[in-house]
Amino acid sequence: YSRVGIIGAMAEEIELLHEYVEKSNVFVKAGITYVEGTLHGREVVFCRSGVGKVNAAVCTQVLIDAGVDCVLFTGVAGALDPKLNIGDIVISTSCLQHDMDCSPLGYARGQIPFQETSEFLADPKLVELAFKACNLLFPDRHMKGKILSGDQFVASRDVVRQLHEELNGTCTEMEGAALAQVCAMNDIPYVVIRSMSDKADGSAHVNFAEFTAVASVNSHRIIDEMIQHM
Ligand code: ADE
Repeated sequence: YSRVGIIGAMAEEIELLHEYVEKSNVFVKAGITYVEGTLHGREVVFCRSGVGKVNAAVCTQVLIDAGVDCVLFTGVAGALDPKLNIGDIVISTSCLQHDMDCSPLGYARGQIPFQETSEFLADPKLVELAFKACNLLFPDRHMKGKILSGDQFVASRDVVRQLHEELNGTCTEMEGAALAQVCAMNDIPYVVIRSMSDKADGSAHVNFAEFTAVASVNSHRIIDEMIQHM
């Protein structure tokens, strides 16, 4: 990986990159600001995508057009797997859009019509790299799994149960599967790293507000560790 794309959805999620990346250039496209530079001697381009699948998709394509050869996403998510606690980390093995629903036409939930794949696999080498970083930084507080994305902040136990049981999701957020699909369309490797800010239940909005800052730092530390071993 000679030029690494890094995306966060919110300011907190990329704040530390602003501190540590040695910047060489900044450009704006489609209203999103991209920072080019080096981190631990490696070329990186990073940006804040904004929230949701459309923002993530556009920003991923712009990064790819700017010549990145892999994409890392750092951020927070709501836990779906009951084994996860706030602060724990999930590394994507794949991503699926849980709000893609053409079930009246006979398609399974999450399935994109007329398309072979709707569950986009993360790059095994990047997953392994993230896993090693987690073993070092957060031993016993991380797991690999399928990440579900949708343009919804999930805050209901019933929805959590459904997403976990029906779609086998480990955590839920609002960007990963869009980024994953754009990477698949361009044949570019990706991995999403999410730190749990809440459990996507009735307390999610309170926990999210309280834990997003800490969780963002955790995800950032993993990216930082990964960059040093790429
Ligand atoms: N990101 C962090 N928590 C989330 C939740 N509960 N739903 C969707 N995205 C999230």
